[in-house]
Amino acid sequence: MANATADDKLSSFITAMPKLDLHVHIEGTLTPELRWDLATKHRIPLPFSTASALRASYNHLYATLRADGSNALPVFLSHYYGGMDVLRDEADFYALATHFLRACAAAHVRYVEPFFDVQAHTRRGVPAAAVLDGLLRAKRDMASSVGCNFVLCFLRDEPAAAADAAYAVCAPYAHRLFVGVGIDSDERGNPPAKFDDVFRRARADGLKVTAHCDVNQVNGHAHISQAVSEVGGGGLDRIDHGVNAGESPELIAAIRARGLGLTLCPQAYVIAKEARWGQWVRALVDEGVKVTIGSDDPAYMHGMGTAENMVLAAEACKLDTDEVVLLVRNAIDICWADADVKKNLESELDKFVKEWEG
Ligand code: HPA
Ligand code: ZN
Repeated sequence: MANATADDKLSSFITAMPKLDLHVHIEGTLTPELRWDLATKHRIPLPFSTASALRASYNHLYATLRADGSNALPVFLSHYYGGMDVLRDEADFYALATHFLRACAAAHVRYVEPFFDVQAHTRRGVPAAAVLDGLLRAKRDMASSVGCNFVLCFLRDEPAAAADAAYAVCAPYAHRLFVGVGIDSDERGNPPAKFDDVFRRARADGLKVTAHCDVNQVNGHAHISQAVSEVGGGGLDRIDHGVNAGESPELIAAIRARGLGLTLCPQAYVIAKEARWGQWVRALVDEGVKVTIGSDDPAYMHGMGTAENMVLAAEACKLDTDEVVLLVRNAIDICWADADVKKNLESELDKFVKEWEG
């Protein structure tokens, strides 16, 4: 048998190590198979005659996105919102989250903070309670295998008043279901500043605040700058993506000064055909920014989970084992779990590293 290469060894290490995922959209984990089952349950017609034809359409979407990264986010979002049409009742949200959490447990992902897009469901006529209760039941039922706190995301291409209304509906579930709020969806013309009021309100309620600053967006640097120091009363607690900060010494310095974490998703940058992402992440790591790796929308991104995204980062940024461990330590540092949960995650990671080396 040929000797394993260093890369093989690092991949095996990443696969086996205890991990966290702080950047994953629960609706982006809806596999074609579960979508097929839920469509069958609700008698919702899909334009595919079999589950495998539906699966093939996901592969086709992935190939299309990879072929033309210029408009990847809006094209992806149209499929993402279309896919979730099969999520109709409490049991569907329960199934969605338990499927994801089971996959996490199998992949040695120990703690997650998935986003959920409540407005994407209420605007289709699904009651908010179906979303909130289904996710909460899944979180509780899976608690012994995977730690999970959700992050309520507002659709930034909807009016700020719609975010305020969504927040009011979800607030009774704060701290039980979700520990933070964020913004996602189409970023163009929708800067973090648009949501300053709701960020401040959430923070006053003791929640954490974050914002997507996706790769290569129009006014992307300005959006990062707002997130770092302007909105929510002095800046947010974390940034989702923010990878373009790696090309700006000023942004790197500002992010480091506030000790902010960035939740990066390499596969999304590959899809966006941005060749420089590896060098940007390398700069962020070298400058001591707390970066972590998430999976974003694995069902729509070739099924690539946390480990596969970490392998991509390790290859593109030439990370060594210590740096890979650092990415997970950063995640423990910047996650919004209770102190005792963080301590357990830290001990498990230490034990894993020691045993691997021994
Ligand atoms: N970017 C922005 N909004 C999103 C995404 C994403 O990758 N996934 C779900 N909503
Ligand atoms: Zn995202």
